[in-house]
Order: sequence, then structure tokens, then C-alpha cells
Amino acid sequence: MANGTRKDSPFELWAEGEGIPVVRGYAVEDLLAVPVETWKRKEGKGAIIILQGGQGFNAAYVCEIPPAATLTPQRHLFEEQIYVLKGKGETEFWSDGGRRQSAAWQRGSVMATPLNVWHQHRNTGSEPARYVAVINAPIVFNVFRNPDFVFNTAFSFTDRYNGEADYFDPEGKRDEEIGVGTDRPVWKVSLIPDAYASNLGETPMGTGMSIVQLNLARNSMAGHIAELEVGTYKKAHRHNPGAHIVWLSGRGYTFLWNEQGERMRIDWKPGSLISPPENCYHQHFNTSPEPARHVALRRGLPHVGRRYKPWLDVKQGGDQIEYEDEELDVRAIYEEELRKAGLQCRMPAVARK
Ligand SMILES: [Fe+2]
Repeated sequence: MANGTRKDSPFELWAEGEGIPVVRGYAVEDLLAVPVETWKRKEGKGAIIILQGGQGFNAAYVCEIPPAATLTPQRHLFEEQIYVLKGKGETEFWSDGGRRQSAAWQRGSVMATPLNVWHQHRNTGSEPARYVAVINAPIVFNVFRNPDFVFNTAFSFTDRYNGEADYFDPEGKRDEEIGVGTDRPVWKVSLIPDAYASNLGETPMGTGMSIVQLNLARNSMAGHIAELEVGTYKKAHRHNPGAHIVWLSGRGYTFLWNEQGERMRIDWKPGSLISPPENCYHQHFNTSPEPARHVALRRGLPHVGRRYKPWLDVKQGGDQIEYEDEELDVRAIYEEELRKAGLQCRMPAVARK
């Protein structure tokens, strides 16, 4: 049994005891349509999402905040990275004895609450607001096995947040370092007000893909925003577990070669969530007449264990399959999908050896 399907881990026992739905699988078709129920811990509504690709590192949840409602203040010893699916609101942040700051958000915002800092979300709109959060709670629960410790420990990680007035400045520290395996900068921010509007740069990475890397709230988790141009698809690749991809725009499908080596097709649209398990190749295809953008909320580079190189040809020791090496029917299926949609294929011709 794969790690992601264990239901007796301390994290999963906690999740099952929260009194809200627990959603499982490789993907969620529509995060906006996931049924949510009253979540006493937050005084909002929620559902926990434990996907196959989380594998004891990351999980997710959706939370819905009723119009004009304010959730219960929370702090916790796991990291949390949020993408706002609909609505608008604001979040107050504070450390024990510290000054309160607030950050406004809306549909399309990406945000992280600093580790163990108090935070309180408020819906400032007239419609329900809904966000998805990707959390590394499984690691923390499975080590400490005590929810009271996870949610009620008074410790300030001042190396992460020390009341800095510009902490939630969306324009701050965007070019602090260059990401591994790419010449792209890492945006070291805590809030991206609108991931739909983020400029991902002029030069695609590979065919049709533009990407910026994210390091939110000085987390050990990481992320990126990426976009596939019309008529293009990404090379198949594999990497460490825990990545959760939320589609913002466009439509398409993903091939996922699962733990048994079976090729699964997962169709996606705005609001879909996919989490590929470790070592499982996956490949994203845009079949819509508009660019397809996603936000990935995921682990950072592991300090131990296998270090994948999903940007490097597998023939050179990496974890990416070049177009000329992919399965014979991959290109043909994509071209047929585009033909059905009345779109031109913009992929370069491949010369098979
Ligand atoms: Fe990936």
C-alpha cells in the first residue's frame, strides 16, 4: 500500500476526527464543488484533502468563510500555503504581544501565514469566500502525535516573522536568489495579490512553459506559478512527493503514470487539484484556446534522500523525458485533442532516433 493511502497515521486519525469530509484520490476535479461541512475548529466550513501524492509530507484542505464572517484565530506548528478560489477578505497576523498587521486577499491571491503566528481570516465580501490550503501538517502530526502541542504551543519563530512592517509587501524581495535548475528568480514574498496577473517573464522554459518560483513566508515549503501557452504541452517529468497543483485558467489533461505504471488521464479545468506521487512521471497538456496557468504549492528541496532533477533529460541522469523519447501515442493523442477543439498544435516536430 502506498504511503498516501495509510489511514492509521496520527495525521490521518486527526483528520478523520475533525468532523468534516475527508477527500482522497489522485486529484480533485473541482475544489469549488467539494462539499464542505461545519468545521468547529475554525467556525467556518471545510473539507480535508489527502491525495495520493501527499505521501505523509503534505495534505490540503478547503475552507469556506460565510459572507461577513470571521474565523477563529489559529496558530499551528505546520506550514500553510493558501490559494484563494473565490471571494475576498483580509487576514490579521500577530505574534504573542506583537502588533497586528493585516493583508487583503481576493480570488487568485496566494498567501502564506508565518509558522506558528496567530492569524484570523475574515470574509469582507457578500458571497462565500473559499480557499485551498496546502499544509505540511502530516510531518508534524506524525512526529509529535499530539494535536494540542501542534495548535497550542507558544513559541515565536522570529527568524521567520518578527513583526516586519513590509512582511506582506507583495512587491518585496522578488529577486533574492535564482532557483535550482532554472535561471528564474525566486519570489521571496508572503502575499501575491493576484496570481492571474503575475508576470511570469518573457522567455518560456522549454516549449510553451513560463514559470516563477515561490518561497512564501520563509517556509521550508515552496511553490511556483506556471503557464502553458496555447497548443503546447510540458515534457513528462517526476519529482519528490507533496506537490499540489491548482489550475487557475485554461483546460486540458494530465497523463499520470501511477505507482503501478498505469497511464491515467486526469482532465482539468480552473479549480482542479492534482498531486502526482513521488517517482511517478506526469505530463500536462493544454487543450484550451487560452493559456493554462497553475499554482503549485509543494515541498522545497529535500535536504536528504533522493534529489530529483525534473528539468534534466533522464538520459543525462535527470527526471524529464524529452519529446523525442516519449511514448509513441502521446503526440498523436494531443494533436487529435487539439483538432477536436479547432486549435493548432504549436509543438516542434520531433525526430525520433
Ligand atoms: Fe511536476
